[in-house]
Amino acid sequence: MTPLIVRRVAELREEIEAFRRRQPGKQEVGFVPTMGYLHEGHASLIRRSVSENGLTVLSIFVNPLQFGPNEDFERYPRDERRDVELAEASGADIVFIPSVEEMYPEPMRTKVTVSELTDRLCGASRPGHFDGVATVVSKLFHIVQPDRAYFGLKDAQQVAVIARMTRDLHIPVDIVPCPTVREADGLALSSRNVYLSPEERKQALVLSQSLAQVPGWIEDGMTEAELAVRIRGRIRSQPLADIDYVEIATYPDLTQPPAERPLRESEVPLLVALAVRFGKTRLIDNVLLFPSEVK
Ligand code: PAF
Repeated sequence: MTPLIVRRVAELREEIEAFRRRQPGKQEVGFVPTMGYLHEGHASLIRRSVSENGLTVLSIFVNPLQFGPNEDFERYPRDERRDVELAEASGADIVFIPSVEEMYPEPMRTKVTVSELTDRLCGASRPGHFDGVATVVSKLFHIVQPDRAYFGLKDAQQVAVIARMTRDLHIPVDIVPCPTVREADGLALSSRNVYLSPEERKQALVLSQSLAQVPGWIEDGMTEAELAVRIRGRIRSQPLADIDYVEIATYPDLTQPPAERPLRESEVPLLVALAVRFGKTRLIDNVLLFPSEVK
């Protein structure tokens, strides 16, 4: 069925309220927040929401608050027609596409900051980014009031930050982390992949290829510093790769694992995350390992 396109906050609230009134206490609302230019990764989140809820709301909003002054807000890819087609094919009921003016009718005087979890990884290389994410996601949660919200683990730090924010603020929503979806050759799906030249795309495979070796390297007994050196060396084998960061952190608290201890002795899950530029495109990828997988 063609999803309902809604551009105004008030109308969205009315539609969701009407839905809840029709089936009191029964129907749950699933929410998939996105910035559009949807791909199979987003489709998998929508399908999961459809399978677990009576109503699925997808939002498409390129949020200016989460882009730094020299980042790609203006050129971020947008294609509303194609997005609505994919939303329909995946089963979304409502697509919320607000304008910047609708989301930010006056200059924001309120900001949501999640401390410590945002000090490292993308938080360190994109100052203010997670304040923008946490602020817009909490606004969207207040507008949609979903029972569940679905996020891809390609942005594992984002998932940790949002889960912590909802706990800290007692927002009654279940955060559902969903697996990263990859191309057949391993490249993690991202709306930004469209920026890559054919040669950059080819070399970008080094990200998933080096992450695939991580469990073996940890099993060999590497410490955090040794693993980071090994991954960096592997990525540098591709001349177009310009490393932003390679980091190993406990998950979901994102603290530094003990420096001297082999990572395979970790009792908590570990996140091995990287951000690498190919030309003008900054790609992120990661692997999340549970203690049973690294012993
Ligand atoms: O992951 C994204 O697409 C964005 O950061 C999000 C969660 C939709 C907030 O703008």
